[in-house]
Amino acid sequence: MAAESRDGALSLLRLLEDLPGERRLEEPLAPYTTFRIGGPAWVLFFPHTVEALAEAVQRARREDIPYRIIGGGAKVLFPDTGFPGLVIHTGWLRHIQEMENGIWVEPGFPISGLVKRGLWVLAGVPGSAGGAVVMNAGTRYGSISSYVISVQTLLPNGTVAMLPSQECRFSYRSSVFREKRLPVLGVGLRLPEEIRPVADLLAERQRTQPLDYPSAGCVFRNPEGISAGWLIDQAGLKGARVGDAKISEKHANFIVNLGQARATHVLSLIAEAQEAVYRSFGLSLSLELEVISS
Ligand code: EPU
Repeated sequence: MAAESRDGALSLLRLLEDLPGERRLEEPLAPYTTFRIGGPAWVLFFPHTVEALAEAVQRARREDIPYRIIGGGAKVLFPDTGFPGLVIHTGWLRHIQEMENGIWVEPGFPISGLVKRGLWVLAGVPGSAGGAVVMNAGTRYGSISSYVISVQTLLPNGTVAMLPSQECRFSYRSSVFREKRLPVLGVGLRLPEEIRPVADLLAERQRTQPLDYPSAGCVFRNPEGISAGWLIDQAGLKGARVGDAKISEKHANFIVNLGQARATHVLSLIAEAQEAVYRSFGLSLSLELEVISS
């Protein structure tokens, strides 16, 4: 790492030194993402409390240091060159509390845990509760927004606020948290009354999606009423490969990492898929995956 980056990383470490949590200097991000891709962050910080998460965000904002928050590491592509700033990992923040009308979870609580507690519509979706809220994660059966009561966040002016669901500006795979890059500090959810076994839903996913390789799930949003996977498939791109990144033969909206894929390989395939679908159908595919620029 260049001397300048080293200095940046060390001063960032000092900025966070009094906060409860674990800090890792120049830590490769690939192991923390479902894609298994990404170079080192200057500092990867694992806050031990939600207050420390909020304070780290506040300090990064104040000092104008680039920062990102990750939970399950799904739906994100970090550059091979890494991230020159702070990455905050919510892995320690998994507390859950029963409420009268549902549950309250911290952002690192896994989606699979929500499914076990009854949120069957998200069966098979990887990631954490915080990420699910930011992305308004969902399946064809529904999205998390239908179950959100309120979300605690840190506003740009530094105050902690509780936003009721109607103020979260949920839309297809987006929310005010994604639009304005606001951190999710906790979420209140109501759980469906009907209990549904999820084995069939998981088997269906296994049958139609390439779950045996690292990936970030669907790369593109579906244009209104059409599957992006179907479009890429019809454009003849299944199996297209750059380096160790490949457009899945099982579901063309997935790019899989065959082992040593790099972010640049994935970006080439993204461009190829967009061009091919535009050529064949005149449609512009937009990204569901968050691509962090280098
Ligand atoms: N199809 C093809 N070729 C392909 C992929 C799909 O012909 O390569 C066809 C399928 O045969 C089917 C249709 O397209 O007739 C729809 O496919 P699918 O049922 O797989 O649904 P999708 O619209 O492609 C959406 C979500 C998935 C979610 C599934 C199931 C988006 C972008 N995708 O996929 O979400 O798992 O429904 O609920 O909204 C994700 O967000 O990461 C994700 C994978």
